[in-house]
Amino acid sequence: MESATFVRGSVGRGSSAASELRRFRQRPRPLPDLRRWRRRSTAAIRAEPDLRVRVNGLEMPNPFVIGSGPPGTNYTVMKRAFDEGWGAVIAKTVSLDASKVINVTPRYARLRAGSNGTAKGQIIGWENIELISDRPLETMLNEFRQLKREYPDRILIASIMEEYNKAAWQELIERVEETGVDALEINFSCPHGMPERKMGAAVGQDCHLLEEVCGWINEKATVPVWAKMTPNITDITQPARVALKAGCEGVSAINTIMSVMGIDLNTLRPEPSVEGYSTPGGYSAKAVHPIALGKVMQIAKMMKAEFDGEQSLSAIGGVETGGDSAEFILLGANTVQVCTGVMMHGYGLVKKLCAELQDFMRKHNFSSIEDFRGVSLQYFTTHTDLVKRQQEAIRQRKAVRKGLQSDKDWTGDGFVKETESMVSN
Ligand SMILES: Cc1cc2nc3c(=O)[nH]c(=O)nc-3n(C[C@H](O)[C@H](O)[C@H](O)COP(=O)(O)O)c2cc1C
Repeated sequence: MESATFVRGSVGRGSSAASELRRFRQRPRPLPDLRRWRRRSTAAIRAEPDLRVRVNGLEMPNPFVIGSGPPGTNYTVMKRAFDEGWGAVIAKTVSLDASKVINVTPRYARLRAGSNGTAKGQIIGWENIELISDRPLETMLNEFRQLKREYPDRILIASIMEEYNKAAWQELIERVEETGVDALEINFSCPHGMPERKMGAAVGQDCHLLEEVCGWINEKATVPVWAKMTPNITDITQPARVALKAGCEGVSAINTIMSVMGIDLNTLRPEPSVEGYSTPGGYSAKAVHPIALGKVMQIAKMMKAEFDGEQSLSAIGGVETGGDSAEFILLGANTVQVCTGVMMHGYGLVKKLCAELQDFMRKHNFSSIEDFRGVSLQYFTTHTDLVKRQQEAIRQRKAVRKGLQSDKDWTGDGFVKETESMVSN
């Protein structure tokens, strides 16, 4: 039964032998001992909504994943993430030659609500012109090894990016996998700096390049591969479809949105200002959440219509509350990544996210993430259909006669309201 599912899934997507092997290893199985655990548990424990997720064969204590960026830059901070209880960690993107990566400072600029540039008001938007990791690859690999030694049961995902060169991509995959990481996220989406070297969004915005590079990656990788999508494209379903058809096990969306944070009206220089000059950067945090919801909804609909349900979706963008994450899961996300939220609130944020997500689940009587994953997707339709539905609703409302149907319906308690229901002015 399991191998039949595996054959159908892999042949349908025309994937490579390596990705078939990965899929076989990750074939769907029920969460371990879930039923027995449920039977044994006390009433109090039974009432606790279960946040555990299994995605592409990876088991996580909750769906909250550190998104690639500053919160996954080195051993110390990734260890902290595991200690605080994050479901998984995606490290800062690495490449073969970190000496080509030269960062500038300042490289962040923030947008505050209702403050017109003053230091007051809630931070709602965040721009960065940070590049991928500038730390030597070997240093990062040693830290991945150490983390997997110390946290063998926790999920560590490496984020990788390379130039348009098959040998380079495959060397990077081999060296990263050798550390024992559980999965790979491919950064096809960094909007600044890297595209100048034909990397990141330069690949994610070109479906032909993307298909070719995904082919190289899936030919080599032996762990699950998630392709991280850029929102800086007209139709995000196109690269998502290409990556999944090329054998990637999942997609992540979104990376940052190309932006200019603002112009200083005293100096006339753009922000963030580096020696008086700037370059467009990537926008993140609360302000991008509605845009991310839109992109995730489009990808989820496409995946539901065109794929067999084995592929995963990791949603990212402006998550700071359990409610933000519930929205992504209601659209079909298996996991939810957080990057800027951790930069603003610290690693302890995961505890609040878990508690708030459980509150939401309790309110609706959901006992597991799968109970509500994708439930809201069915309520998206075309505008033409909205018009039809509204016309039908109006027709039905008009059909119901106003006021009391008969004198026998008058009541003592509702007398005044009942009178008003039959007044015309
Ligand atoms: C300062 C900063 C650095 C980032 N670096 C990376 C990176 O190295 N690789 C990557 O795939 N995404 C990177 N991202 C993008 C985030 O992982 C995430 O996709 C995006 O910020 C939206 O999520 P958020 O609103 O939770 O931050 C970075 C984001 C920020 C703010």
